Amino acid sequence: MDSERIGDEDWAELQRNLEATIPVYDRVNRIATLGQVSKWRRMVRDRLPRNCRLLEIGCGPGSFAEDVEGGELFCLDPIPEMIRVAEPRINSSRESRGDSAATFVKGTAEDLPFEDDSFDAVCSLFSFRDWYDKRRGLSESLRVLRPGGKLVIIDPAKMNRFHGFLGWLWMRTYVSAYARTIYRTGDHPWKWLTKTYSSFGTTRDYVKMLEEQGFTGVKAKVIFPGMATIWEGAKPE
Ligand SMILES: C[S@@+](CC[C@H](N)C(=O)[O-])C[C@H]1O[C@@H](n2cnc3c(N)ncnc32)[C@H](O)[C@@H]1O
Repeated sequence: MDSERIGDEDWAELQRNLEATIPVYDRVNRIATLGQVSKWRRMVRDRLPRNCRLLEIGCGPGSFAEDVEGGELFCLDPIPEMIRVAEPRINSSRESRGDSAATFVKGTAEDLPFEDDSFDAVCSLFSFRDWYDKRRGLSESLRVLRPGGKLVIIDPAKMNRFHGFLGWLWMRTYVSAYARTIYRTGDHPWKWLTKTYSSFGTTRDYVKMLEEQGFTGVKAKVIFPGMATIWEGAKPE
């Protein structure tokens, strides 16, 4: 595992562990981020165009997508159980607002089952870190965006080695201790949060990667209190 790739065996193990987080996913995230996660999701929503054709890559159990209003929404995830949980959650919220039902697709960022130039925007929340080939996932995101379309990604922040050490310590101690009490074992699936964070690159590494994959106007913002980064870029017109 490094800042660009995750090997086949590690990725398969990571998927098993991500699936095991489903029942407590939102609860642990709220605690792990000191309640900040909903604000961060709002910040992502505010950066996306309204009422557009939007793809969320790595929708998980639907924690972000359930609050996306209007437009045409596509939710993609490689884990069937994530989609099984996300679909009723997202579509009942959409129905209550009078929005059209979202479309759910099993797949990975690295091999998007969509036509070229088919989305106004693509977003990925707390999933980019888990992509097994980040360059390929970004180049696929660029391919499916229409010219001028926008990509927004959010994931835990790592500004430099020292900041990365503090982030690792936070996950290894505080988040791990909370997960241990819920699962009643030291061998809980949130251990993989620390693992993928350890090999994750810095905010700047991925600004460079987005530019190298062909995005324009790339920028990144580390959000207060330094726990997450939002990256943005667009497909050239
Ligand atoms: C931590 S969850 C994030 C869920 C949701 N986006 C949120 O805002 O909380 C990460 C999701 O990314 C998915 N994922 C992992 N690797 C992926 C890949 N290569 N392509 C697309 N999704 C992936 C996982 O299956 C998981 O459901």
